[in-house]
Amino acid sequence: MLEIASGTGEHVAYFAAALPGLTWQPSDPDPARRTSIDGWTADLPNVRPACDLDAQRDEWPVSRADGVLCINMIHISPWSATLGLLAGAARILPSGGLLALYGPFRRGDRPLGPGNQAFDQDLRSRDPAWGLRTVDAVSTVARSHGFGDPSIAEMPSDNLTLLFHRL
Ligand SMILES: C[S@@+](CC[C@H](N)C(=O)[O-])C[C@H]1O[C@@H](n2cnc3c(N)ncnc32)[C@H](O)[C@@H]1O
Repeated sequence: MLEIASGTGEHVAYFAAALPGLTWQPSDPDPARRTSIDGWTADLPNVRPACDLDAQRDEWPVSRADGVLCINMIHISPWSATLGLLAGAARILPSGGLLALYGPFRRGDRPLGPGNQAFDQDLRSRDPAWGLRTVDAVSTVARSHGFGDPSIAEMPSDNLTLLFHRL
């Protein structure tokens, strides 16, 4: 499993301990975060050292994975990062491979809840290129890269998990 934007590494440490049969490859473009990830995962034999991966780049340091996981990056990076994430995941996943996205999203037909509305405004005030994306926009780009429609799971605090499979 390749994790994009692993941040501190706490999530990959949790998942790797819970799913020891999978080999986990964390990543982040920020060197300080990669140091943190390696600290959190040092004792876990099924986690590789964090690699330097910027989702926007055309070339990733990982050429193949069975699954790609990305938590809390899409709303807090420019849209180009999401475009790169979806293109890159399509490049490295086999048919049937899983792309799992977690975070706050907009759903076209529903107003944002008060928490996500305030969060979206805060993100945009920090950087106009950031902000909550619509499930439809992400799904349309994913479809153009050969993914099927997502399964959507509602999560606590108004977050969603979107599960895409490569066709
Ligand atoms: C809000 S943090 C989320 C970290 C972690 N996934 C979590 O949920 O705690 C956003 C992360 O996205 C990473 N990031 C930002 N732009 C990125 C990009 N273009 N490619 C990959 N990671 C990126 C940042 O370095 C940061 O670690």
